[in-house]
Amino acid sequence: MKIWEIFFSPLGDTARVCAACAGALAEAGGGADICIYDFTLPAARQSFPPVSKEDIVVFGVPTYAGRVPNVLLKYLHTIEGRGAAAIALVTFGNRAFDNALRELCELLASRGFSVAAGGAAVCRHAFSHTLGCGRPDAADFAEIKAFAAKAAQKIASGAHKAETLSVPGQPGPEYGGYYQPRDRRGEPIDIRKVVPQVSPSCIGCGLCARVCPMGSIAAEDPRQRSGICIKCNACIENCPAGARYFSDPGYLYHKQELEAMYADRAENSFYL
Ligand SMILES: Cc1cc2nc3c(=O)[nH]c(=O)nc-3n(C[C@H](O)[C@H](O)[C@H](O)COP(=O)(O)O)c2cc1C
Repeated sequence: MKIWEIFFSPLGDTARVCAACAGALAEAGGGADICIYDFTLPAARQSFPPVSKEDIVVFGVPTYAGRVPNVLLKYLHTIEGRGAAAIALVTFGNRAFDNALRELCELLASRGFSVAAGGAAVCRHAFSHTLGCGRPDAADFAEIKAFAAKAAQKIASGAHKAETLSVPGQPGPEYGGYYQPRDRRGEPIDIRKVVPQVSPSCIGCGLCARVCPMGSIAAEDPRQRSGICIKCNACIENCPAGARYFSDPGYLYHKQELEAMYADRAENSFYL
């Protein structure tokens, strides 16, 4: 029996939440082996690890626009759960997880996982250095570990095989659609085509190309881009020269509005 941490995590917070959950499961299970499969980079989305029905899989993705990141769906519809028990985790940036957890739970069930528990954990919002800043904190990690211990008991009892886990959210296939940012006149802001700018301080090290989950930045010249940008901020946050930034007025308005509207501490949610 193995415990798996399987996640997409451009900025690393989803990975940290999965690690806390898997660590607590391993403790509850008397020190079972933990295996990690990080599918953040494109090469890892060419395959999926051989999980088995004896295993417990902690499966994490961030909430993007209130849903499972849509760029992952093609890959996620190829993965094989082979009867493994799953704990579905979504992270979110102090606004809301909307329908992301429900979508993830239903997707995992449709791919052959036996979904035993689900959680939504608050992390720093990828767009901001203030929204959800410092999350997950010590109190969050304590909640995640307590949840994992209860999930371990549920899985050990076999109760998850007899019932479908109920989590909030609108039903598929639309799951309520994607969250739509709006400007001050209430008009939709379309940030899909927005890409980071590169300042002259770029030293051409190529680190941004290595961390881009879409493989969209040219390694030989990081000023060149091909393919899509999902606004995950990995290139910006990892740049040693601070040379990458967003300047699009719609994106910046949305970021400021989120910071103003969702300044209060959001809570984690757990379902068993
Ligand atoms: C494109 C995009 C859309 C996002 N949409 C939401 C959202 O709808 N609600 C929310 O609370 N946080 C949202 N976030 C914040 C992420 O869920 C949060 O930053 C997450 O913890 C990032 O995970 P990571 O550190 O593993 O990359 C969004 C982030 C990005 C990049």
